[in-house]
Amino acid sequence: LVLILDYGSQYTHLITRRIRSLSVFSLCISGTSSLKSITDLNPSVVILSGGPHSVHTPDSPSFPDGFVEWAESNGVFVLGVCYGLQLIVQRLGGQVKVGQKQEYGRMEIEVEKPSGLFGSNKVGSKQVVWMSHGDEVAILPAGFQVVARSEQGLVAAIENPSRKFYGLQYHPEVTHTPEGMETLRYFLFDVCKVSAGWKMENVSDEEIKVINNIVGPEEHVICALSGGVDSTVAATIVHKAIGDRLHCIFVDNGLLRYKERERVMETFERDLHLPVTCVDAAKQFLDELKGVTDPEMKRKIIGREFIRIFDDFAQKLEHKLGRKPSYLVQGTLYPDVIESCPPPGSGRTHSHTIKSHHNVGGLPKDMKLKLIEPLKLLFKDEVRQLGRILNVPEGFLKRHPFPGPGLAVRVLGDVTEGNALEILRQVDEIFIQSIKDAGLYDSIWQAFAVFLPIRSVGVQGDQRTHSHVVALRAVTSQDGMTADWYYFEHKFLDDVARKICNSVRGVNRVVQDITSKPPSTIEWE
Ligand code: XMP
Repeated sequence: LVLILDYGSQYTHLITRRIRSLSVFSLCISGTSSLKSITDLNPSVVILSGGPHSVHTPDSPSFPDGFVEWAESNGVFVLGVCYGLQLIVQRLGGQVKVGQKQEYGRMEIEVEKPSGLFGSNKVGSKQVVWMSHGDEVAILPAGFQVVARSEQGLVAAIENPSRKFYGLQYHPEVTHTPEGMETLRYFLFDVCKVSAGWKMENVSDEEIKVINNIVGPEEHVICALSGGVDSTVAATIVHKAIGDRLHCIFVDNGLLRYKERERVMETFERDLHLPVTCVDAAKQFLDELKGVTDPEMKRKIIGREFIRIFDDFAQKLEHKLGRKPSYLVQGTLYPDVIESCPPPGSGRTHSHTIKSHHNVGGLPKDMKLKLIEPLKLLFKDEVRQLGRILNVPEGFLKRHPFPGPGLAVRVLGDVTEGNALEILRQVDEIFIQSIKDAGLYDSIWQAFAVFLPIRSVGVQGDQRTHSHVVALRAVTSQDGMTADWYYFEHKFLDDVARKICNSVRGVNRVVQDITSKPPSTIEWE
């Protein structure tokens, strides 16, 4: 295991991902974790991440007392990155001072001494790296040597091979450091001699074993399928482990996209053989949403109705099986549970960051279901890889995210007004199909149409119309937290707008949303 101690850099999780991409398992925990939490994980390598702090600030985060002694007596390799390097220097008896020449952005460094960090003798070789630091190393701890310097003459890489401590002042994990992966590879395989055995196939096999150990032979498990990748992959792996003692529910809340129910049910049943009960609750949801225009209220109603249906499902199941289901499967991912080390003064605590958007809102507390979260150590792209191994169809794995409250947050205002939902479904389908036909679907994080509760004047045929306006939204994003609007060619937009107005009755105007997030959100409500 390669353990990353997180000191709050925005790039920390990238280190975890880069190492996993080298087939080495890595985990990330808060940089201020106790010595016990670190040693319990028994890592062979520890990487101290970068962070926005200065080692001189009074409560700047650091590794626990006893960490250095533990690492040395157990032969653990330690690599400090940026702030992590400065922590090593300061805590091992060297000196870090406020830099006179701060280094931000691309910078050339030169290797001065043969070192395992840069492969076999690379003295004199230069590379461009990404720097981001204000403080600099003034005096090295005894026994350490400078391995590389920046073009400004500042320390860029250090090592003390006999104590197994290493440091990089720059960020090897970002793409702006083109040879960064090479350095991580040298460090892990040549210096630390770790073996590359972490494969998604093994993860899948191990996870199946774990689930089988947790769930007793008589116990039953339930799962709410949203139609998204995470819950589907989570259910599929649990199904592989315990077979039809898994019971899934898929709720048609009347807020799904064009033919969504048929399409996802086909994948669940035909491709994955999942035991799914499909509940048609469109009327129940739409009755409750009638006349409601406040976005928060809409979300609350949808969450509440979902819980009612889920509760009912669990009760019926209990009746049928003669015993209560014991576990609930959730598709929680690693970024949702990662502990992070926030900058001082940010007001955030070192607690788990839990996604505020949940498909399955809060579930009834008195159900007392224990959780199975088979994806909780995986990133999204790893979940897709796992899905491939489990034979989830490629087209399904690549679907754009879709919000739990569905089209309710894409019909502005009262969703039951007129035939807004039907119009939106048709417009959305034309837009998405055109994107697929143009080969653009996989380059876009999310694309959809929005129904606006206004009418505008148009002229269609020889007649003036007073019809609906729809908006098209497409964004690129890494994680949905920030997003940029997607630039379509004029010809593409022109074709889509014509197609929509010519084939969807009741629409005479199409606009495009050209705001990024922030200041907008991806969804409109
Ligand atoms: P926003 O609109 O907040 O959306 O920029 C960020 C991402 O989250 C999705 N989203 C949701 N997903 N339940 C979900 O499962 C929700 O209530 C919800 N609201 C927004 C949104 O589609 C985008 O991918």
